[in-house]
Amino acid sequence: MIKANPYYSDLSANYLFQEIAKKIKEFKEKTPDADVISLGIGDVTQPIPLACVEAMKKAADEMASASTMRGYGPEQGYEFLRQAIVDNDYKARGVDIDADEVFVSDGAKCDVGNIQELFSVDVLVAVPDPVYPVYRDTNIMAGRKIEFLPCTKEAGFSPAFPKSKAELIYLCSPNNPTGAVLTKADLAAWVKYAKENGAVIVFDSAYKEYISTPDIPHSIYEVEGAKEVAIELRSFSKTAGFTGVRCAYMVVPKVLKAIGGKGEEVFLNAMWSRRHSTKFNGVAYVVQRAAEAVFSPEGKKQVREMVGYYMENARLIRETLAAKGFTVYGGIDAPYIWLATPAGMTSVDLFEKLLNEAQLVCTPGSGFGQCGEGFVRLTSFGSRENTLKALDRIGKLAL
Ligand code: MLT
Repeated sequence: MIKANPYYSDLSANYLFQEIAKKIKEFKEKTPDADVISLGIGDVTQPIPLACVEAMKKAADEMASASTMRGYGPEQGYEFLRQAIVDNDYKARGVDIDADEVFVSDGAKCDVGNIQELFSVDVLVAVPDPVYPVYRDTNIMAGRKIEFLPCTKEAGFSPAFPKSKAELIYLCSPNNPTGAVLTKADLAAWVKYAKENGAVIVFDSAYKEYISTPDIPHSIYEVEGAKEVAIELRSFSKTAGFTGVRCAYMVVPKVLKAIGGKGEEVFLNAMWSRRHSTKFNGVAYVVQRAAEAVFSPEGKKQVREMVGYYMENARLIRETLAAKGFTVYGGIDAPYIWLATPAGMTSVDLFEKLLNEAQLVCTPGSGFGQCGEGFVRLTSFGSRENTLKALDRIGKLAL
């Protein structure tokens, strides 16, 4: 028999959200009449901005005529979208990025999973704990050694610096799952670490649209010199409700260098371009037009309204649970609330109790890593009605 990739044997049996979905399915089979409310996976529930829908329809109409239809698009993404990203997401915040540094993709999860291919299998990876499991699992699949960086409540859930010399570092702000944010001083310290250790930072800012506190960086490139050491990931999933539409982008600066297989200097932008054009055929034209519409005046207004809707849910969750005596974190600059489990309960205990006694789904913190034990994650991406119903049910539980 052929030998399988041995590193898959080091993974947990299921991807975290697949595991939760399995538990919900089993629960629904046992109790078919239960009205299950999910505050589990961070999937959106509100319509995507109308400006995006209209742009998508217009683009679909273009496909109906030979003179305007599009076949294969540029693998890296259409210029119109890459330029709109550069102008609105970067220039507007004083960051100078070239459109050639932007790679449009079908999702940040895929980008997070794929970017590690650019690095040697023997680089030491540093991953926060708790963490969005894709950073961890994809590096386990590749057979890399990982150092977990504890994010404790005492440190405001900011990751500790690695004990060993880490070369590939994943950071996420606003954070999934804790909802914490990194300040400019925090990011500057990581950029300094990366420079001193020849490391590359993969900075995930998929939730940047949820930042409301002034002075919290939306991009790692707001820190001087970060382009020499950082790749940045963004997504339209949480910005504009594209979880089912699929569009994201990654910035790989042209100045970012590494050592190639022959000891030569290589540029990660050129390598990613090579990889992207070999393994990917671009995001659908209609989807890229929808993403472009996020940056139109109506699109911006509608995005603000949508984000405001979810953040009002976050406020309700945070304040209602705090008033009931729970300890809650996050939910101010992020759509996630990190809820401490009551004394004596593990995160799985609380998950089971919420599911069995209140038909509520959360995500147990231990699924995000050892340091997630003692917490569960709640998302604010539900409808208002379900969020209020969920809070009412939690209030009635003996906890
Ligand atoms: C989450 O719930 O953490 C996210 O929705 C998962 C994802 O973005 O892939």
